[in-house]
Amino acid sequence: MQLTVVGTGYVGLVTGVCLADNGNHVVCVDLDAAKVQRLAAGETPLFEPGLSDLLSTNLAAGRLRFTTNLADGLRSAEVAFVAVGTPPKADGSADLTNVELVSLAVARGAPRDLVMVIKSTVPPGTCDAIQARVSAESRRRISVVSNPEFLKEGDAVNDFLRPDRVVIGDADKAAGDLVEELYLPFVRNNRPILRMSRSAAELTKYAANAYLATRISFINEIAELCERLGVDVNQVRRGIGSDARIGQHFLYPGLGYGGSCFPKDVQALAASAKRVGSGAALLDAVHARNQAQRARLIGRARERLGGFAQRTIGVWGVAFKPKTDDIREAPALDIIDAVIADGGRVAVYDPKALPPLQTRFGGSPGASRISYADDAYDVLTKADALFICTEWNEFRSPDFARMRELMATPLIFDGRNLYDTSTPARYGFEYHSVGRPSAKSE
Ligand SMILES: NC(=O)c1ccc[n+]([C@@H]2O[C@H](COP(=O)([O-])OP(=O)(O)OC[C@H]3O[C@@H](n4cnc5c(N)ncnc54)[C@H](O)[C@@H]3O)[C@@H](O)[C@H]2O)c1
Repeated sequence: MQLTVVGTGYVGLVTGVCLADNGNHVVCVDLDAAKVQRLAAGETPLFEPGLSDLLSTNLAAGRLRFTTNLADGLRSAEVAFVAVGTPPKADGSADLTNVELVSLAVARGAPRDLVMVIKSTVPPGTCDAIQARVSAESRRRISVVSNPEFLKEGDAVNDFLRPDRVVIGDADKAAGDLVEELYLPFVRNNRPILRMSRSAAELTKYAANAYLATRISFINEIAELCERLGVDVNQVRRGIGSDARIGQHFLYPGLGYGGSCFPKDVQALAASAKRVGSGAALLDAVHARNQAQRARLIGRARERLGGFAQRTIGVWGVAFKPKTDDIREAPALDIIDAVIADGGRVAVYDPKALPPLQTRFGGSPGASRISYADDAYDVLTKADALFICTEWNEFRSPDFARMRELMATPLIFDGRNLYDTSTPARYGFEYHSVGRPSAKSE
């Protein structure tokens, strides 16, 4: 099929590349000229395992190309995917400006009838509203289909190629059938393609993310209780997770969820619920717990150190989770900001996410208080404490003896519970983690 994908972020780029790999002809459109130039040269502007190889292969095969020109991108399109960002507005609701602009531009610029697939995460009712608008504004027949994306950053290519399920919401069966045809090669393992109304599809995406976020906030709330009671949350976690009705997944206490999806989607769903007069107390509490969770470990460190002024803090991991370079809403940013605001210094190591961090702080008033290292041990030199913010594999079995030698104070605040509490203590560390008793060497 001849496809167009507008937006080449984590979702749009993975969608375009994976659909091209199946033999479709895909034109990816983005307004970011520098990004388009790099992609056309076979260079991935974001880190996602497996993406680079697929990009090069499909560019070389002539099935994939990139442009900033939407009209050029739409020339042969039978299906146009909209995969632009839907960031949060100040009140938490989803900012649909980009989706509305792009869907209208696609409808106006379509040289023939086409199916428009909304892949961006949008509140229930958005696709119906877009349909009404594009039907009024286009000379072509445009059928709007909702096809929310469930891929996880860090495993996005694998998730797209082997989805747990594909959700297709349509009001026009033939349009939904066409989108289903595109996905059939990815569900040969009998995973379901779920057909539903557009609003049900839109709500399914938010409900899935909100439920996963709820599990994280739930275990984080239990973790605080554990800290106050002197109980090890891991024992409780295993105790409840062994119940088949509950399961172990998404019950890991820590610094709370981050990234470009959970924080914004929980708030956007709450805003949608309130708009139609539905209760959102649970969603509000999930968000509030997540904010509090980040602040808690910072508060414990501040109290232990007597503030961060004049302190040097090492940070391991800034990506919001491992295997990605995405730092949007990453808990590490709150920690870095807190140390700098107090007049301390931060030395940061992350195997993939330093470039976006450098962009965020470049030229900012705090820029001179932050340094970046190519090696995890370099951030420990004369450090007063180490914060662990991302559970990259390389942090799981570190050389504690070497760490102890490098640091000014043997103090670890582990926001990801990477170690058995007794291990760092055995090497002379004072070790604070989440929901578990702190440990010190005897
Ligand atoms: N990142 C994820 O893990 C993930 C997973 C599932 C769903 N989603 C949803 O998918 C959508 C996209 O997310 P993302 O993380 O890929 O976003 P992103 O910010 O990484 O990428 C968005 C891209 O769209 C481009 N863009 C913006 N306006 C444009 C316009 N008018 N014309 C052309 N290009 C334009 C931007 O330049 C950017 O390259 C969001 O709604 C998000 O909630 C994201």
